[in-house]
Amino acid sequence: MKSGMITLLLTIALVAPAAFAADGKAVVESNKCGDCHKMTGPAVKTIAEVKARKAPDLFYAGSKFKKDWLVGFLQKPEQLRPAGTVYANNISDKGGKDVIGNVPACASKLSAGDAAAAADYLMTLKDASMKEGIAKLGKFKKARAKILVFKKQGCDACHQIKKRGKGGVSCPTLFNAGKRLNPDWIYSFVKNPQHWDPKVWMAARPDLSDSDFQLIVNYLSSLKKK
Ligand code: HEC
Ligand code: HEC
Repeated sequence: MKSGMITLLLTIALVAPAAFAADGKAVVESNKCGDCHKMTGPAVKTIAEVKARKAPDLFYAGSKFKKDWLVGFLQKPEQLRPAGTVYANNISDKGGKDVIGNVPACASKLSAGDAAAAADYLMTLKDASMKEGIAKLGKFKKARAKILVFKKQGCDACHQIKKRGKGGVSCPTLFNAGKRLNPDWIYSFVKNPQHWDPKVWMAARPDLSDSDFQLIVNYLSSLKKK
C-alpha cells in the first residue's frame, strides 16, 4: 500500500509536465489556431505565400516570446501590426491617398487556464539553432542607442517604437518589446531577419557590430508598456 502510494505519486510527478504541454496542444488544436497561423516550419519561401499569410507564424513561438506576455495576449489580444499581418493586403488607394482598411485581429479568446496551457505548449516550439544567452542586458548608453535606432538605421520608418501612432505601419509595434520578446530572439532577428522569414521586408544589417546589436537589444528590451 505504502510503496503503491509512492509509485503513484512518482508517476504523477513524472507525467504531469508532459500532460500539461499536451493539454496546451489540445487547446491550440480545438481552437483552430492553425487555420490562421502556421504552426509547423519551415517558413514559406515565395512572395505569393507571404501575401496569402493570414497571421504571423507561430512555429518558433518558444524562441520569440516571453511566456507571461503570451498568457495575457491569448486571453485578450491587442493590435500589434497597425496595418495587419501583410500591410500591402490592407491598404487601398482612396483619391491618391493610402488608407488602411479593416485589419483582422487575433481571434484567440482563451480562458486564463487555457491560455496558460496554450502558452506552455507554444513555449515548446523552438528553433534549436538560435543561440541562447547571446543578448547581454545591463546598463547601456540610451542616447547612443536612440541615435542608432532612429537617426542612423531609421527603424521607425517601418515600426512604431516610442508609442502607438508614432512611426511606420508596415510591421509590428515595438513599444512593448521588453515585455513581449525574448532578447536573444531580438538579437537574432535584427541581425538576420531572413533566417526567420526568407521574404520578410526588413533588411539584414551586415555592417553592424556585436556592440551595435547589443545596444539595439538593450534599447528595445527597455521598452515596456505600463
Ligand atoms: C481568424 C484567424 C486567427 C485565429 C483563429 C487565431 N489567430 Fe492569432 N493572430 C491572428 C492575427 C491576424 C494576428 C496578428 C495581430 C496583429 O499583429 O495585430 C495574430 C497574432 C497572434 C499572436 C502574436 C504573434 C506575433 O508574432 O506577433 C499570437 C501569439 C497568436 N496570435 C496566437 C494565437 C493562438 C494561440 C490562437 C488559437 C487559440 C490564435 N492565435 C488564433 C489571427 C488569428
Ligand atoms: C523596411 C521596413 C523595416 C525597417 C526599416 C525595419 N524593420 Fe523591423 N521588421 C520589419 C518587418 C516587415 C518585420 C516582420 C513583420 C511581422 O512579423 O509581421 C519586422 C520585425 C521586426 C522585429 C520583430 C517584431 C515582432 O514583434 O515580430 C524587430 C524586433 C524589429 N523588426 C526590429 C527592427 C529594428 C531594430 C530596426 C532598425 C535597425 C528595424 N526593425 C527596421 C520591417 C522593418
